Amino acid sequence: MMLHKDVESVLLSQEKLEKIVKSLAKQIEKDYNDKEFMMVGLLKGSVAFMADLMKRVNLDFSIDFMVASSYGSGTESSGRVKIVSDLTLPVQGKDVLVVEDIIDSGNTLNFVMNYLMTKGANSVKVCTLCDKPSRRKVPLVPDYCGAEIPDEFIVGYGLDYAEKYRNLPYIGILKRSVYE
Ligand code: PRP
Ligand code: MN
Ligand code: MG
Repeated sequence: MMLHKDVESVLLSQEKLEKIVKSLAKQIEKDYNDKEFMMVGLLKGSVAFMADLMKRVNLDFSIDFMVASSYGSGTESSGRVKIVSDLTLPVQGKDVLVVEDIIDSGNTLNFVMNYLMTKGANSVKVCTLCDKPSRRKVPLVPDYCGAEIPDEFIVGYGLDYAEKYRNLPYIGILKRSVYE
């Protein structure tokens, strides 16, 4: 496979991503079997992961999306999270599973989880593809996690740098020269 010229190396290959998604889907099926639940993807980063994950979860559930952004175009979280686009479905009384591509500082999810609880969700859990626990600024432990990753800037499979690279089918480490 041809590597993008801005990518240093592959961290999670397409094959590895598929295995991770299958394994997470199995755990979710087991835990949400008897629940009336809703999968909420945080756009835009979760787009590829959510699309693959939901197809592997063999249960009846609804899906919805939110846009909550804190990064802008840089590589550091600003800490100020805002809801750019809200849910379309009511969450009152629902068990909500938030789907994220990556947890870094934890600011985005911390804000979104509180918001969903305020809206009357029965429970709010988190399924993240990647976790960078070394960068955490607010205590937050994902309920489902695909991979713990080192403190490198990663792109692909939904993850961007300055809105680029989301379409790469793998997750790769971005060359430092691109952002330094
Ligand atoms: C990125 C990423 C997570 C969040 C993680 O989203 O997709 O949602 O940052 O960082 P945090 O834990 O420090 O909050 P971003 O705001 O870049 O928007 P995007 O999903 O559209 O890329
Ligand atoms: Mn995001
Ligand atoms: Mg981003």
